[in-house]
Amino acid sequence: MAKSTTKKVSQKTETVEDEEIIEMEEDFIDEDLDEEVEEEFEDDSIEIDEGDLKSLPGVGPATRKKLVVGGYSSLRAIGFSSPKMIQEDCGLGEKTSMNIVRAAMEKLNLGFKSADKVWEKRKKIAQITTGSKELDDILNGGVETSSLTEFFGEFRTGKTQLMHQLCVNIQLPKSKGGLNGGAMYIDTEGTFRPERIISMADALDLDHKKVLKNITYARAYNSDHQIMLVKDAGKIIEENNIKLLVVDSLIGHFRSEYIGRGTLADRQQMLNSHLHDLLRLAEVHEIAILVTNQVQSKPDVFYGNPLRATGGNIIAHGSTIRIYLRKGKDDQRVAKIVDAPHLPESEAIFLITEDGIKGI
Ligand SMILES: Nc1ncnc2c1ncn2[C@@H]1O[C@H](COP(=O)(O)OP(=O)(O)O)[C@@H](O)[C@H]1O
Ligand SMILES: [Mg+2]
Repeated sequence: MAKSTTKKVSQKTETVEDEEIIEMEEDFIDEDLDEEVEEEFEDDSIEIDEGDLKSLPGVGPATRKKLVVGGYSSLRAIGFSSPKMIQEDCGLGEKTSMNIVRAAMEKLNLGFKSADKVWEKRKKIAQITTGSKELDDILNGGVETSSLTEFFGEFRTGKTQLMHQLCVNIQLPKSKGGLNGGAMYIDTEGTFRPERIISMADALDLDHKKVLKNITYARAYNSDHQIMLVKDAGKIIEENNIKLLVVDSLIGHFRSEYIGRGTLADRQQMLNSHLHDLLRLAEVHEIAILVTNQVQSKPDVFYGNPLRATGGNIIAHGSTIRIYLRKGKDDQRVAKIVDAPHLPESEAIFLITEDGIKGI
């Protein structure tokens, strides 16, 4: 409901602001706009937590409100975004948005930096166990925070089971391969099963009631809904100490909806922007993002990247780590790392059991 308020504001003020902004080269925030927005927000029942936004130079309270209501409640959320996103989500002018992003980036030191700083940042990255020692080993300890990991493969290769297992494992203490954190699950296929969570939690001697409580679940009914859920995820992530976000599956809705409606280019563009939103969540909140992707055929049937046939190139470029799953014998599954920037292309075997994902 807070959202609809901004939308209204944005439509009303967009053009006015762009005209006026030209006259005020120096102080980029438009005072008139601030006043106008202030009236719209007279209803003080909406609590706004401005976080560290107050440290943004030249940004008035009304603009800060627009930012917060638009989903940008911290410097990090702004600094990792493009001006275009801010412009669209908050109803701010092009120039204002550009200046706000630039100011946030400066505050956060997001320009060039020495490689030892990059190393400092990478050292903060944590790994979450998959349940299979062999799979963890080829992943350098497990799936990583601050990055996006894509599991792709045919039907019944264990993608959904792995997603369930990681929602449980993230809740383990650090000493056992977790992060004492919560999980968020966006289910596009209706295949989430709490009873599987209960079995997996029990097998790890965890209180399954608590484990279920720590998984924030949403069923996404179509691609627009899925996009919206991800756009709104930031606040829930912060409030619930969420360290892992699952989207199972990432492109199912896009694939089915865009058949016969719109062009492939439209679909790619929507997917690209959705993927960008996810990568931004990974960066801003330093969480692990896991997505699944069902492919119809073995990758070697195609030349090169199997995702050409489904999600196109987009997914491959946006993801940070991709893992191809295939069936082995019986309950065995084979995971192969492909295209990871810092890991060799290696394979691991894991099992799907009643107790969850296990090593052999
Ligand atoms: N309770 C269970 N015990 C053992 N294996 C299970 C259990 N539930 C599901 N599985 C196995 O998991 C596989 C399905 O994996 P799933 O993750 O749903 O595949 P995908 O999401 O890749 O289509 C099936 O082969 C099934 O045998
Ligand atoms: Mg599945």
